[in-house]
Amino acid sequence: MTYENVQIALENGIATLTISREKALNALNTQTMLELRHFFGEEGPKIEGLKGVVITGAGEKAFVAGADITEFSGLSATEGQNLAQRGQDIFFLVERFHRPVIAAVNGFALGGGCELAMACHLRIAGEKAKFGQPEVNLGLIPGYGGTQRLIQYIGKTKATELLMTADMIGAAEALQLGLVNHVVPAGEEVLKAKELIEKIATKAPLAITKIIETVNAYFEDGEDGFGREVSAFGECCGTEDFIEGAAAFVEKRKANFTGK
Ligand code: CAA
Repeated sequence: MTYENVQIALENGIATLTISREKALNALNTQTMLELRHFFGEEGPKIEGLKGVVITGAGEKAFVAGADITEFSGLSATEGQNLAQRGQDIFFLVERFHRPVIAAVNGFALGGGCELAMACHLRIAGEKAKFGQPEVNLGLIPGYGGTQRLIQYIGKTKATELLMTADMIGAAEALQLGLVNHVVPAGEEVLKAKELIEKIATKAPLAITKIIETVNAYFEDGEDGFGREVSAFGECCGTEDFIEGAAAFVEKRKANFTGK
C-alpha cells in the first residue's frame, strides 16, 4: 500500500507513525484509517525485530483532532454504524498489536484522536496536550471506542462528565486522572516514548506480548482474564527466554533474550 497520510519511519527497531494531515489538524479521514489498518493488520506484524511503535501527529498543534468531520455529512444510520464498526476494528488492531504501541500526544487529541491514543498501550503527553471527546457538540457520540475506553482509564464518574460536557482537559489533569502515563515538555513526547520502548525491549519479547494479551483480556466481553493469565503463564514457561531469564538471575548477569 502507498501511504499518503501516515509517515512511517523505522529506526533502530522502532516504527514511528506520524499522522500527517497538518492542515486538518491530522483528522482521521478514510484514507488515513485504511493506512492505519494496513500497518497494524498487515505490515507491522511482519517487521522482524520490531521493538515497538510510536504514534504521533505532524506539527505542534495536534496529535489528531478527531475523525474527519467533513466526511460525516449526510451519513445514514446504517452508514454511521458501518463507519463506527470499521473504526473500532482498526483500533482493536492497535490495542491487540503484539509489540508495545505508545501514543506521543503533542497537541489536541480530540474525538477519534483521543480514541486512537486510548487504543495505544501507553500514552505520553506533551505539556500542551489537550484531551477530549467533543462529539456531543456535533450531535454525535464517540464511535471508535471512546465511551468504553475512557471509563476504563478514568472511571465512570469523570468519564461521563467529559463525554456529556465535551470539556477538554490538559496534560496535568490527564496525568492525575490516569489517562496518560507521563507528561513531558512539549517536543519531547516521541523521545520519551522511544525511551520507554527501549526499556521494554530489554525484557523478554514473548512475555511482553502476553502482558498485552492478558491486560486486554480483563476488558474483553466473555474473556476469562484469570484463565488467560494461567495459560499465558504456562506458555511463557515453555520458552527459551524463561530458561535464559531464570539462569541469568541465578548467575547474577543480564539476560540475553531472543524472543524464542
Ligand atoms: N475534521 C476535519 N477537519 C478538522 C477537524 C476534524 N475533526 N478538526 C480541525 N479541522 C480543520 C478545521 O476545519 C480547519 O480547517 P480550515 O483551515 O480549512 O478551516 C483546520 O483544521 C484548523 O482548525 P481550526 O481553525 O478549527 O483551529 P482552532 O485552533 O481554531 O481550533 C480545535 C482547534 C479546537 C481542535 C477545532 O479545530 C475543533 O474543535 N475541531 C474539531 C474537534 C472535534 O469535534 N473532533 C471530534 C470529531 S468527531 C469524531 O471523532 C467521532 C468519532 O468518535 C469517530
